[in-house]
Amino acid sequence: MRPTIDLPLVVDRGCGVPLAVQVAGQLREAMRTGGLKAGERLPSSRHLAALLGVSRTVVTNAYQQLYAEGWLDGRHGSGTYVADGALPYDRPAARAAEARPAVYKEAAPPGVVDLRPGRPWVLEYDTAAWRRAWRSAGEAGPDAFPDPYGHPELRELLADHLRRARAVPVGAGNVMVTRSTSNGLDLIAATLLRPGDRVGVEEPGWRAARRIFASRGAQVVPCPVDEQGVIVEALPDDLRVLYTTPAHQYPVGGRLPIPRREKLLAWARRTGAIVVEDDYDAEFRYDVAPLPALYGLDPERVVLLGTLSKSLGPDVGLGWLVAPADLLDAVAERRDQLADRTSGPVQRAVATLLERGDLDRHLRRMRLEYARRRAAIVEALGPYVRGDTAGLHVMVPLPAAVVPGLVRQAGERGVLVDTAEAHHFGPPRVHGLVLGYGSASRADVRRGCAVIRELIPPEGV
Ligand SMILES: Cc1ncc(COP(=O)(O)O)c(C=O)c1O
Repeated sequence: MRPTIDLPLVVDRGCGVPLAVQVAGQLREAMRTGGLKAGERLPSSRHLAALLGVSRTVVTNAYQQLYAEGWLDGRHGSGTYVADGALPYDRPAARAAEARPAVYKEAAPPGVVDLRPGRPWVLEYDTAAWRRAWRSAGEAGPDAFPDPYGHPELRELLADHLRRARAVPVGAGNVMVTRSTSNGLDLIAATLLRPGDRVGVEEPGWRAARRIFASRGAQVVPCPVDEQGVIVEALPDDLRVLYTTPAHQYPVGGRLPIPRREKLLAWARRTGAIVVEDDYDAEFRYDVAPLPALYGLDPERVVLLGTLSKSLGPDVGLGWLVAPADLLDAVAERRDQLADRTSGPVQRAVATLLERGDLDRHLRRMRLEYARRRAAIVEALGPYVRGDTAGLHVMVPLPAAVVPGLVRQAGERGVLVDTAEAHHFGPPRVHGLVLGYGSASRADVRRGCAVIRELIPPEGV
């Protein structure tokens, strides 16, 4: 082990962990705990390699990994800097000070039109059905021995729901009840990954997926998408896991066509990778029926993740993980070791909603409402709108130079939007706005889009 002069970094050649993973891990920790602060410059790769007595490739690989995770920024000119958004995760005050729209949890102030994606409409559920579900959930007491797979009745009901709504040929034996898609991803990562394993995540893509895999020690590999979804030819052959959103790519909005689904599965069979299918938004299509899930096309290679976060609300805390039986058993064992579980009362309440058809009715109602809001966006911004007729968001591609000013001016006029740039891990390759219509009323969607329309320069497409 050789200590460095400038930074308290050490590498241990005998511990079996790749050197680049060790270097990245220690730098990440320094940024997480505030030892390295936003804007600080890191040593050049040549200098750090010399200090550590490692090859320059080790340091460049470590920097690339941290760059992909969003910790580093190389765009200030020459040199490598700690990115502005690289916050010490264990300091809530620092997190609250983050000015970017990535702080999704905060509600918009009254009077502000919130067109940021990723939020569902939680005001229009059937209160009678909701109360009934909770009354029935309260009839049974707490369970002293929570089952890591989830309640057997709910597993049956979810399997039935997936067979009907997603044409997935699945039995209850392949279903685990989770708290959310993110919980499912974390369980898969905790079960399958060893430090340094390479995990592909769509680029641009869901930030939480990248962070979850990185927090489990994976090396995150950004995998480019086009308007139809992930580009199979661009996938490297050494991925342990690929995370993808084929039903409605987040945030570009495409739907992976059947021939590409088949190509993707052929790639997975050839390379041995596991495909994690985030069945994001699949319940919200407004034109044709959703395409069959990848899981149904190859149940031995695919893990399917679903959630009620978008259909009922993220704080309900219920999702599902569908996997081949062997893998599901391994996940259940790991889950048990981690003392991770889904609330029993929540499972009972959701079982009642499914059993009585209340969830289906709610989805039918919300589909109509979301379709109208989407139509309002298309009416206002017609030629600028991209993405399938589905889900809770659209993409508005714009020249890179236009985006920051437009976001600022929209904010000044009381309209919050998100950008495609913010969903990248590496240098942005897709530019424009990502507009969500989950949490704004139809009137607000119209108001917000009218403002955006005025701000788009005439040559804006
Ligand atoms: C791509 C994607 N998948 C899944 C989810 C839902 O995640 P969870 O079930 O963890 O709330 C979101 C939420 O914003 C998302 O953007």
